[in-house]
Amino acid sequence: MKIRKAVIPAAGLGTRVLPATKAIPKEMLPLADKPTIQYVIEEAVASGIEHVIIVTSRTKRAIEDHFDESPELRAALEKKGDRAKLDMLERIESMAQISFTRQPRARGLGHAILMAKDLVGNEPFGVLLGDDLVMNPDGTPCLRQLMEAHERYGGCVLAAMEVPSEQTRLYGVFDLWPEGDVDEYTHRVRDLVEKPQPEVAPSHLAVIGRYVLTPDIFAALEQTEPGAGGEIQLTDGIRALRGKEPIFAYEFAGTRYDTGDPVGYLTTSLAFALQRPDLAPGVIAYLKTLRLD
Ligand code: G1P
Repeated sequence: MKIRKAVIPAAGLGTRVLPATKAIPKEMLPLADKPTIQYVIEEAVASGIEHVIIVTSRTKRAIEDHFDESPELRAALEKKGDRAKLDMLERIESMAQISFTRQPRARGLGHAILMAKDLVGNEPFGVLLGDDLVMNPDGTPCLRQLMEAHERYGGCVLAAMEVPSEQTRLYGVFDLWPEGDVDEYTHRVRDLVEKPQPEVAPSHLAVIGRYVLTPDIFAALEQTEPGAGGEIQLTDGIRALRGKEPIFAYEFAGTRYDTGDPVGYLTTSLAFALQRPDLAPGVIAYLKTLRLD
């Protein structure tokens, strides 16, 4: 079945980047000059998603405003005759159909996804986590790669990336079936462990924040008890589908950036500015003035 919808959980408190996120949603923090969540929605749209469902919470209203029409701004730009910025507004306001639903309390990623149950309905869908940005400028967007794997093999498809041993405790980690490769990039998953310490991690292959899930995940999440960190984990919901449908790890092409902590956020912002022809020369000129040792 064609994948038309994608869920973006954006209900988290963003405590790792306080105080920036005290009153501003972390999804609205800019990378170069664009809010993080806009990159994520652009990836979804470039992947063929028509309907984006954003799960928010209190203090997140700025996200809704960003994708809504802005008559005052439009009038001001029209008065100035700034066609380029007017086109930019137009693009943002008509990117996709966007629906919002709320997670009343922070009960975990799995619980946030469950909030989208009625809006998704009975069809497979994508999930994009806003802390993970995946750039593949000349190639296929990450979510699209997973969607194509789903079209070929069905089931749930999770983005996968090798991480150093000491980082397994930050991720969901795959346990793959021996001889379970279905093609060069796609591997059958035997089990998943959320945030294992290195000594008990089943591998170094981590779940990155892009998923294609079947609607069966909702019934599974309804039965999922709180897990790691006392939260209802998406990883545990997906584990519950083992034996009922195939689950695949997909080693995507592209560069992944983690914006979830201050250093990751700053370096991603720098990397994105350096990819922009209008911003790169000024940033490079500044970097050249730094004595870094
Ligand atoms: C979440 C998931 C985890 C996944 C990670 C990817 O964790 O629970 O399985 O590996 O995203 O970034 P979080 O980073 O929200 O703690």
